[in-house]
Amino acid sequence: MGKRYFELSDLKTEAPDLFGIPTGTKLDSMFFKIEKDSDGRYAKKPLGGIPHLSVMNLTGVPDSGKSVLAEQFAVHQADKGYKVLFITVESPASFLYSALKQKSEALNADFSKVERNIVVIDASQDEELRENPKALMDTMAYAIKERKTSITIIDSITGLYEHKEVMARQIVRQFFNFLKKFRQTGLFVSQKRSTQASESAEAAGGLAVAHIVDGTIVLDKKLIESKWDVNLYNLPLGSVLRTIRIDGCRLTAHDSDTWVFEITELGTIKIISPLKEYIGKGR
Ligand SMILES: Nc1ncnc2c1ncn2[C@@H]1O[C@H](COP(=O)(O)OP(=O)(O)O)[C@@H](O)[C@H]1O
Ligand SMILES: [Mg+2]
Repeated sequence: MGKRYFELSDLKTEAPDLFGIPTGTKLDSMFFKIEKDSDGRYAKKPLGGIPHLSVMNLTGVPDSGKSVLAEQFAVHQADKGYKVLFITVESPASFLYSALKQKSEALNADFSKVERNIVVIDASQDEELRENPKALMDTMAYAIKERKTSITIIDSITGLYEHKEVMARQIVRQFFNFLKKFRQTGLFVSQKRSTQASESAEAAGGLAVAHIVDGTIVLDKKLIESKWDVNLYNLPLGSVLRTIRIDGCRLTAHDSDTWVFEITELGTIKIISPLKEYIGKGR
């Protein structure tokens, strides 16, 4: 059996450097570290992305933009030359291909590069991969080693424990540990049922995901459905207000505001401003 305790100093070489892996959205300036500058004062320094080697949970109700954000992150990284493993659990790989191609165009990315740098495992069409975590992890291990990926996205982790919610924690924990072992920066997309309190991260997959991962990003959408909403948000009746918020991250400091974002006609995420400022503005 391996060593089960360590001197704190033994861990020094293994401690990851804190820096950001950019998503290409304003989310990148919403994680930061606090550093002492030359005159001894503490200052916020944006990380420039989600924390390196973190495993983040991206959660929200259906249609809140989780896949759009996950795909944009994949395209942005692939375009920068990093290799991304994308496990698609809901949307068949052929649809993912079209979505990634469209996003590449919208983001002015080099699609030939994006095509080369994204490795896809299609669990949507393969029951064994979906139902048997070991089989999926073996396939992932092979892909990560063979193609030397540094980022892994699972869209969605919830799809791996459909009909077996009692297994949720165990399954999420296994994939979390797996990504740590293989030194991947990870994104787990998780679905929140619309009946669950849509604003809280706890609502996602029971309590499974949020407690295990390093941090959670919550997407939400609100239908402007009353006179009260119209007055408060200054938006027309029947329109949709989309929000994004970092609901905690154990690895680094982060912005805690709720931000308003849009999904553009080309299917990309554009984060606009904090909700509190957005509301104040006459539009
Ligand atoms: N390619 C696209 N072009 C325009 N809008 C899109 C595109 N893809 C997604 N959207 C919009 O984003 C919404 C959220 O999509 P998606 O990210 O798939 O949601 P989910 O949170 O369920 O993964 C869709 O309902 C649609 O309005
Ligand atoms: Mg989705």
